[in-house]
Amino acid sequence: MFDEAIKQYEANLEETGLQQLLPFLCKQSLDVIKQGDWPHWRDRLAELPALTPSRLEITDRILIGDAADCDADQLSLLRDQLKAFIPWRKGPFKVFGTHIESEWRCDLKWARLQGALAPLAGRTVLDVGSGNGYFSLRMQAAGAKLVLGLEPHIAYFAQFWAIRHFLPGYPVYVLPITLEQLPRPLPKFDTVFSMGVIYHRRSPIDHLLQLKDCLRAGGELVMESIVVDGPAGYSLMPKKKYARMSNVWFVPSTDTLLQWLTRCGFTNLRVVDQCTTTSDEQRVTEWMPYDSLDAALDKQDSTRTIENYPAPQRVIILANKP
Ligand SMILES: C[S@@+](CC[C@H](N)C(=O)[O-])C[C@H]1O[C@@H](n2cnc3c(N)ncnc32)[C@H](O)[C@@H]1O
Repeated sequence: MFDEAIKQYEANLEETGLQQLLPFLCKQSLDVIKQGDWPHWRDRLAELPALTPSRLEITDRILIGDAADCDADQLSLLRDQLKAFIPWRKGPFKVFGTHIESEWRCDLKWARLQGALAPLAGRTVLDVGSGNGYFSLRMQAAGAKLVLGLEPHIAYFAQFWAIRHFLPGYPVYVLPITLEQLPRPLPKFDTVFSMGVIYHRRSPIDHLLQLKDCLRAGGELVMESIVVDGPAGYSLMPKKKYARMSNVWFVPSTDTLLQWLTRCGFTNLRVVDQCTTTSDEQRVTEWMPYDSLDAALDKQDSTRTIENYPAPQRVIILANKP
């Protein structure tokens, strides 16, 4: 599977001026992935059957093939093989008839932002913290020339490649690295997405500067984050956990995030959406059977987290590099 993808990746990069990213998807780099249990995931990927989808629809539910493309035994085996990749946090997908109802209804976030984006047609796109690539696939379906996701969490990197296995030749790739691991000088993209990442960073300002360095002049940043109410300058630093997450460092107010973006030199800032996350969008499912939003909120008062912080709201801000 990777042999075909690697060849295609080389060809795709040639037309984009992003050749410096070649070493991140090659046999040697895959052989030495140290994070997570890569040998385990590599074996699960190798077991996936060679099925050819009769149709592909990348809309709210990413639909790859039909149940009629396989026999009953193949269908039941494939369902088990996809289950081996649990937890499916991002989706939904329908793969040869198997509905993967993910924890997050990512289609809802995409619906909130797609109309506001600079058209992606013909653009190169970087999707920082892409998870299993649900949004990367939506970006390509919106016309992007090439989408590169960065996902250091190897189980989600593997999940992307489980889906991508059924889409040979598709110009979307996820690399198993962080934004900080990209080589200097940073490659330049037309659009850069950072969705759900900044509050996980110990240095949000450095994160914004690195995102800016990955944009060409005039390029567009899509910044999506958890926010809490508060004036410009305020950000919440949880004592330990925030909404059960132990890796949250700073949760800004929207005005603070705008101020951070301005001080980092972004212009043309636009808040395109702000909303409170509900259990319609983030919930326990058969494909993500562990704790979800409900367990992170106070049972008596859903406006507070179980640590007694304000419940998560999410904002989407667009900005440009001058
Ligand atoms: C909350 S998920 C968001 C996934 C997706 N972008 C979305 O909006 O649903 C954040 C992802 O960012 C990844 N991540 C965290 N720090 C990162 C970094 N420095 N560079 C790239 N990805 C990172 C995590 O592994 C995780 O999968």
